Amino acid sequence: MKVTVVGAGAVGASCAEYIAIKNFASEVVVLDIKEGFAEGKAMDLMQTASLNGFDTKITGVTNDYSKTAGSDVAIITSGIPRKPGMTREELIGINAGIVKTVSSNLIEHSPNVILIVVSNPMDTMTYLVHKTTDLPKNRIIGMGGALDSARFKYRLAEALEAPISDVDGMVIGGHSDTGMVPLTAHATRNSIKVSEFLSEDRLAQVSEDTKVGGATLTKLLGTSAWYAPGAAVSSMVQAIACDQKKMFPCSAFLEGEYGLNDICIGVPVLLGKNGIEKIVKIDLADAEKAKMKESAEGVRKTNSLLAL
Ligand code: 2OP
Repeated sequence: MKVTVVGAGAVGASCAEYIAIKNFASEVVVLDIKEGFAEGKAMDLMQTASLNGFDTKITGVTNDYSKTAGSDVAIITSGIPRKPGMTREELIGINAGIVKTVSSNLIEHSPNVILIVVSNPMDTMTYLVHKTTDLPKNRIIGMGGALDSARFKYRLAEALEAPISDVDGMVIGGHSDTGMVPLTAHATRNSIKVSEFLSEDRLAQVSEDTKVGGATLTKLLGTSAWYAPGAAVSSMVQAIACDQKKMFPCSAFLEGEYGLNDICIGVPVLLGKNGIEKIVKIDLADAEKAKMKESAEGVRKTNSLLAL
């Protein structure tokens, strides 16, 4: 499998590193516009191959999309990350133009590619790709929910004082500080509902901490996080590469599912060799339905800023 990562910044490089270490891809091409930057990151990563035990061939290129030709999956991480105090939505002015150009260049050289959009505001960037390319909707996937769900599980394990491997939970809705919908009523510890162990107030705090998980790290780091986003992307790419039909919450283009149309927003999907194999319908509690509706309104507001 050939994978391209556009953007050799912290997130892109982490994507490339985790994909390589999992050793399911034959080749990862990292592309950046900064002269030599992707080449340097790729070389540094390749020098970990003997230490981390992978055979994946990582190469770096400076803005030469011909080297990405024939990619099965391509990840768009390019654009500016947010600074402390910024919302993801504030990045749209710069990132929309970058994502539109990048997606077009990728598709020109890899017409059968499955695109994973990471650049923020992610749901709107995913929607932009739908509206400005001819890729079928199953091959345009927004990465946000896999990351948010990982943060949700982290917070749940912290509250439960349990190992994260005992915990399961999912976050749907928009990938924004206010729009995420952590499904606390569905979350479990060893198949037992977490509400058996945590009070309503404590669960509410877990949800709030999850929703600002990105902003919390941006405040600490001075820029957006990269390890967990990179790991989230690599798990999604692995599901596609190995045709796992694995469930992730991903930003997907909806045509009536969850009562929503003409929007990209986080919903449970099965990922396999065709990208989004299926959008999974789950029964939401009334409160969750209301939060999802409110979240969609927020995403549509950001979408309206696009000059489509
Ligand atoms: C995050 O939440 C970068 O949006 C990403 O960390």
